[in-house]
Amino acid sequence: MTEKEIVETSEAEIAVHWQEEDYYHPSPQFIAQANMTDPSIYQRFSLDNFPNCFKEYADMLDWYEYWHTMLDTSDAPCWKWFVGGKINASYNCIDRHLAKNKNKTAIHFVPEPIEEKYEHITYQDLFVRVNEFAALLRDFCGLKAGDRVTLHMPMVPELPITMLACARLGVIHSQVFGGFSGTACADRIIDSGSHVLITMDAYYRSGSLIDHKKNADVAVEHAAKAGQKVDKVLVWQRYPGKNSSPTTMVEGRDYFVNGVLKDFYGARVEPVPMPAEAPLFLMYTSGTTGKPKGCQHSTGGYLAYVAGTSKYVQDIHPEDVYWCMADIGWITGHSYIVYGPLAICASSVIYEGVPTFPDAGRPWRIAQDLDVNIFHTAPTAIRALRKIGPDEPAKYNYHFKHMTTVGEPIEPEVWKWYHKEVGKGEAIIVDTWWQTETGGFLCSTLPALTPMKPGSAGPGMPGIHPIIFDEDGNILPQGAGKAGNICIQNPWPGAFQTIWGDRNRFVTNYYARYCKNPDSKDWRDWPYLTGDAAVEAKDGYYRILGRIDDVINVSGHRLGTKEIESAALVVPEVAEAAVVPVAHEIKGREPDLYIALKPGFSASDALAKKISDAICNEIGKIAKPRKVWIVRDMPKTRSGKIMRRVLGAISNRKDVGDVTTLANPDVVEEIQQMVK
Ligand code: WTA
Repeated sequence: MTEKEIVETSEAEIAVHWQEEDYYHPSPQFIAQANMTDPSIYQRFSLDNFPNCFKEYADMLDWYEYWHTMLDTSDAPCWKWFVGGKINASYNCIDRHLAKNKNKTAIHFVPEPIEEKYEHITYQDLFVRVNEFAALLRDFCGLKAGDRVTLHMPMVPELPITMLACARLGVIHSQVFGGFSGTACADRIIDSGSHVLITMDAYYRSGSLIDHKKNADVAVEHAAKAGQKVDKVLVWQRYPGKNSSPTTMVEGRDYFVNGVLKDFYGARVEPVPMPAEAPLFLMYTSGTTGKPKGCQHSTGGYLAYVAGTSKYVQDIHPEDVYWCMADIGWITGHSYIVYGPLAICASSVIYEGVPTFPDAGRPWRIAQDLDVNIFHTAPTAIRALRKIGPDEPAKYNYHFKHMTTVGEPIEPEVWKWYHKEVGKGEAIIVDTWWQTETGGFLCSTLPALTPMKPGSAGPGMPGIHPIIFDEDGNILPQGAGKAGNICIQNPWPGAFQTIWGDRNRFVTNYYARYCKNPDSKDWRDWPYLTGDAAVEAKDGYYRILGRIDDVINVSGHRLGTKEIESAALVVPEVAEAAVVPVAHEIKGREPDLYIALKPGFSASDALAKKISDAICNEIGKIAKPRKVWIVRDMPKTRSGKIMRRVLGAISNRKDVGDVTTLANPDVVEEIQQMVK
């Protein structure tokens, strides 16, 4: 079976197709102060000026050695940017700011418990802490450029400190979202070949201090079974000097960072000049198969792209306080909490906990306290805050000039609440569409240049040239109003370099579909397949409809249906598993799980719970199915393929269409009765 054949229900098929809306315009005050007000940027970044246009972004960085070749396509489609350049990301995010801004806050940390004080880390503090930890990584762990290290950390300042310490040495970090289970962490340790795991004892979520170290124990044990030995587990402490986890520390393996760090007080580590194309980090993400893939991001190209887009799209100025509420465990946090903002010397807020803890006024109190004026979040959070506290924003004295939405399509109705209530009618909104793979934004309006349109991400970013293909490879004309597969015609510096250790999969998944000639070294022959469906309006704005593959976007978290199905199959009673996305008022989508049992087993609530627990255990709570439906049999084609499309229609209470050609049409009605 090819991957394509397995795909029967796509999110796009069940996506909400809302209408085109009218434009909203930024205020003259906003336009007057914006970082980018020159409309010729679109001309400068047109295809005619490709790839040299990206020099503008590269020049936002400090290079040890300036690059000689903008774009090397000789290993197509593994593009190399700024070849010959030597650069260090940690230096660019910290050291170079010290001369003028050492006293500026780099990170405002907001702990979840309301009684705990905010922490304000200056660029000088960050410099000291990153240097000391880099010295520890180098001298205590023996890590050097090119080594991979797995991080499994919550939203605390120690996470960017760890990332920047790795970057200082050229060590490739691979941060695993803190909400993932120990088993999921193990998979990433194994795939990346990490010998060091960096974690934290505990962190706060929804009011409780959660034991996190236990996940490290599971991860190390699982990895060992697969032959990947973790020599050292470095454990940051939520309260330095105090152990907040009941687990035992394994002698000779587990070390409290705060203890070992004492030996490195005052240490300074020269940043290692890295080739522009050296990998900076891996970010695992879900795709069409069960195994998550490690997207490998470069140092020079990635940093240039996130610095440029942070400046022009996030529109961050030196005096701004910028808060992106995403988790650093996802690409949004890497690019737009850590690397992009810090590269341009911003003050970036990190919030440990849940936006609705202890109530739906929390984000607005934080904004008021820190005088945040740029805010960045996902539709899921906006929907939740709107539902629980529609009138909360008005109660607080904060003023956003700029807001971002990212990660999922946003319904115009929700967009309008965000604009009117959260933004108090004053803030501009950018709806940024992009992916883990793309490093930075692909489509968005430029805040002072292109008007907003609720429900539309906007035109391609400067230097990003989208194109929509139909199933047969024909290009849909602009304004066709028809949905198709959105691709990017040209490479760009933020794009991932490959899938870690799996170049074939990289080429097959992202470049093979519309490739004109597999031997070609010309980038024009290699459109990048995003895996999303989109419609282009007459004005060149793109409305993103959702995934065309079997990826589900749950609360902005990207999960593979195959990943969840494989987790269900771990339960011995399970014969077959099928996951379909179900529309959800707040989360956007939720997975619904259909199960057929092996002969001799019968359905029960206990068994359904066992299956659901197995998924939380294998992946994490974020993958927990809405419901486990244990069915007599799966609806199947005569050739034995599970008809996920039919299951998806049932779960979403849609018309199942003609099912008479199935091998077992009778089960369809049976399942419909059950799900009702
Ligand atoms: C979806 C998150 C609509 C899309 C940065 C994409 C969006 C997937 C938007 C990537 C948006 C992201 N409007 N859909 N503004 N932004 N998506 O890798 O389906 O976690 O392919 O990256 O999220 O999710 P990922």
